[in-house]
Amino acid sequence: MTRHFLDITDLTVDELGTILDLAQRPNLARSLAGLGVALIFEKPSNRTRHSMEMAVVQLGGHPVYTRGEEVGLDVRETVEDVTNVMAGYHGMLAARVFRHDTVARMAAVSAVPVVNMLSDWSHPLQALADVLTMQQVHGPIAGSTVAYVGDYNNVARSLAEACVLLGAEVSLGCPVGYCADDAELDRLNGLGVGRVRQVHRAIEAVQGATAVHTDTWTSMGQEAEKAERVKVFEGYTVDEAMMAAAAPGAGFYHCMPAYRGYEVAAEVMDGPQSHCIRQAHNRLHAARGALAFVMGER
Ligand code: CP
Ligand code: NVA
Repeated sequence: MTRHFLDITDLTVDELGTILDLAQRPNLARSLAGLGVALIFEKPSNRTRHSMEMAVVQLGGHPVYTRGEEVGLDVRETVEDVTNVMAGYHGMLAARVFRHDTVARMAAVSAVPVVNMLSDWSHPLQALADVLTMQQVHGPIAGSTVAYVGDYNNVARSLAEACVLLGAEVSLGCPVGYCADDAELDRLNGLGVGRVRQVHRAIEAVQGATAVHTDTWTSMGQEAEKAERVKVFEGYTVDEAMMAAAAPGAGFYHCMPAYRGYEVAAEVMDGPQSHCIRQAHNRLHAARGALAFVMGER
C-alpha cells in the first residue's frame, strides 16, 4: 500500500517513534537511489526546501524543485493530472500548498507516496523537528508541559498532535477567534495519552512549561489581515517576562521565519533559552527520517 504523510495523525505512536529514531540513525539505506522526488511549492520556503532537497540527496535520490505557478495546479492542469503524470517520473511527490485539500487530492490518486510540506491545515515535517529538538534538549517529553502561544495555526496543530501522541501536556495560549474550538480540543484530546488545555491569557499558558513555542501571527496567504492581527495578538509576544513564568530552564522554540517585536522579543529569539537554530537544523534530520519511513525503512 502506498504510504503518504500528510499529517502527524497518519502515524501511530510507534510509527512516530520510528521516524524520530530514523531521524537520528547514521548511515540510513539509500532508499531513494535512482529515484526523483518532485518538490512543488505554492508558497515561499527556506528551511523546507533546503532540508527536503538535502534529505532526498542523502537518501540517494534526486530532488526536482518546482514552483506552484509553473505547474499551475488547477490552473494549467488539474491537481490529479499533475499528480498522475509526475508519479511516472518520480518515486515520491511532496507539496507545499494553500489548501490542504490539494495534498489530499494528490494522495487520493498518486501511485507513489505524497508528503505534505505545509498546508493551511498542518505542517507535519515541522512538528517532527519540533519534538526531536525538545527530546534532545529536555529528554522525553511525556508528562512535561509544552506551551504554544499565539495563533492556533498549521504549526500549532501539528505540534499539538505530535505532543499528545508522545504523552505531553499541551498548554495553548491563544486569543478568542484565533484559538482551537471545542471540537478541535476534543479531537486533540482523543489522539493519545497526552492532554490539551487552552487559555486566553498567554502568561497563564506558559506556567510550568518546559518548552514555549510560538509562530508568526500572520501566516503565508493571510498578509491582508496583518494590521488586524497585530491588534488582536497584543500581549501574546513571548518576551523575557513570559519566559520567566515558564519552568526553570525552559526552552524557547519557533519554526521560523521569526518576526522580532511581534510574536517574539529579540532578547528571547536570540537569547540563551532559544533552541530555534537547532530546531531549524533538525528539519533536515526529521525530513530524512520521514522520507526513509514512507519508503518503507523501519
Ligand atoms: N519553518 C518552515 O517551514 O520554514 P520555511 O517556510 O522557510 O520552509
Ligand atoms: N504558520 C506559518 C508557518 C511558516 C513556516 C505559515 O503558514 O506561513
